[in-house]
Amino acid sequence: MARKVRKAVFPVAGLGTRFLPATKSIPKEILTLVDRPLIQYAIDEAREAGITEFIFVTSRGKSALEDYFDRAPEIEKALTDKNKLDLLERLKPTNMDSGAIAYVRQHEALGLGHAVWCARRLIGNEPFAVLLPDDVIQSNVGCLKQMVDAYEESGGGNMVAAMEVSPDKTSAYGILDVKDGGDSGNVVNVKGMVEKPATEDAPSNLAVIGRYILTPQVLRNLNKIKRGAGGEIQLTDAIAEEITENDNVTGFRFAGQRYDCGSKAGFLQATVAFGLQHPDLRDEFEGYLNELVALRHAAQ
Ligand code: G1P
Repeated sequence: MARKVRKAVFPVAGLGTRFLPATKSIPKEILTLVDRPLIQYAIDEAREAGITEFIFVTSRGKSALEDYFDRAPEIEKALTDKNKLDLLERLKPTNMDSGAIAYVRQHEALGLGHAVWCARRLIGNEPFAVLLPDDVIQSNVGCLKQMVDAYEESGGGNMVAAMEVSPDKTSAYGILDVKDGGDSGNVVNVKGMVEKPATEDAPSNLAVIGRYILTPQVLRNLNKIKRGAGGEIQLTDAIAEEITENDNVTGFRFAGQRYDCGSKAGFLQATVAFGLQHPDLRDEFEGYLNELVALRHAAQ
């Protein structure tokens, strides 16, 4: 039986330069989709999947993230005094049990593999999840929960979320090399994995999306992984080694819509999609969008 996944790593050390100047003084993970910062979406998804220990890999300038998950005594007191219980309720998901959240710093930007490796002592010798908060996934059942269910059913191993991307976009992703006959159903059997290949070198257009369930052996592989694509220590390379050594890596086609909130276009799309789903906003927002589209058509 697969060991339970209790810990999740959130690599949040990136500089967020694509969102400058907004990210000059706030971490990009605090940028807000409708009414929740990006990081809250990832935390909520992890909780839904049964994660109870949250490990953040941070860097300089990320202290707003620590404050976000701390108590806010002044705000809480003011809301209590005014009996604004609904607002107090909204703060609840930001509260963590004491000791459930840990921060470790990545001192140098050496890549995603290095970021995960920085958390090795906190992870220890058990399976763990990795969630990249830039990848926001809108779905009925959270993407990580879907993966944990499939992982438990399959009895363990390493699993990466996977999604088809346009063939001209392979150089932005880890790309899976699918085994012959290995692509039926949600779970895809893979024989290789390569980080950011050019279209002509890509073994497929099935891309890795930022949700992983990994064995501790991947951490040990990271001990010896050399710099790969882009001169960085790549998580993809440490996972690919598990394919060669143990043949225990699968891709998981999740149900849901993924938004690349690391890009401005993706962030805007996610804002619209989540706005249209928000119970307090959707009617007004949908009305506005329809009006806007009608006006644009009329002007053409
Ligand atoms: C990272 C991973 C890549 C994966 C992608 C998903 O790349 O290295 O394998 O496909 O996340 O979003 P990044 O987007 O950090 O360059």
